[in-house]
Amino acid sequence: MALRLVDHPLAQHLLTILRDQTTDTLQFRHASRTLATVLMLEATRDLPLAPQPISTPLTTTDGTRLARGITVVPVLRAGLGLLQASLDLFPDVTVGYLGLERNEETAAASSYYRKLPKLANRVTFCVDPMLATGGSACQALHVLKEAGAVDLHYVCVLAAPEGVALLQAEHPDVDIYTAAVDSHLNDKKYIVPGLGDYGDRLFGTL
Ligand code: PRP
Ligand code: URA
Repeated sequence: MALRLVDHPLAQHLLTILRDQTTDTLQFRHASRTLATVLMLEATRDLPLAPQPISTPLTTTDGTRLARGITVVPVLRAGLGLLQASLDLFPDVTVGYLGLERNEETAAASSYYRKLPKLANRVTFCVDPMLATGGSACQALHVLKEAGAVDLHYVCVLAAPEGVALLQAEHPDVDIYTAAVDSHLNDKKYIVPGLGDYGDRLFGTL
C-alpha cells in the first residue's frame, strides 16, 4: 500500500494557514475542517461503485451509487478537527471514537476511550492530523483491525518520516493520505517544521 501525498493547491494553501503561528483558533478550526474535506475527497477516490438504474425527468439511464458504507474513526482529541467534513460529505457514514494520548515525556500513546460501530463490510478511515512517531497511529490501526476493519485507510494532515516508516512497517496494508511529509521530529517528538500541537491549537488550550 502507498503513501499518498495530497498536493492539491487548496490543501497546500490551508496547510500553510495551519502552520502559521499567527493563525488564531477560529481560523485554525476553519482551515482544519476545509482541509479535511480535500483530504477525504482524495482518500475516497477509489471507493467502489454499484450500478443503479434511475429515471431522470426525461428518460431512464444507468446511474451509480456508493457500494459500501463508510466509517470514520477520529482519534481523540485532535482527530475531531477532521470529522465534520466526513459527516457533511458521506450519506450514511458511521463514526467510531478512539481516545489516545501521548505521554509528554516518553511520547508513548496510551488509550483512554473506545467506542466503535460495526466495521465489517465497511470502508474505514482512521483520521488523526499528526503522524509523528507513529505510535498512536499504529495502536489505533491495531485496535480497528481487532474490531473487524479490513478495508482500512489512514488520513492525516502532516507526517514525519519516522511515523511513515513505522506505519508502513507495522501496517503495510493501510494507505496513508497526508498533505505533507515534514523534515524530522525534534527531541520532544514534535514534527519540524510542523505546526505545533494540533489539539491545543484546535481547542484553544495552549
Ligand atoms: C497527537 C496527535 C496524534 C499523536 C501523534 O495527539 O493527534 O494522536 O499526537 O503522535 P505520535 O505519532 O508520536 O503518536 P496527542 O497525544 O497530543 O493528544 P490530543 O489529540 O488529545 O491533543
Ligand atoms: N502531536 C502534535 O499535535 N504535534 C506534533 O508535532 C506531534 C504530535
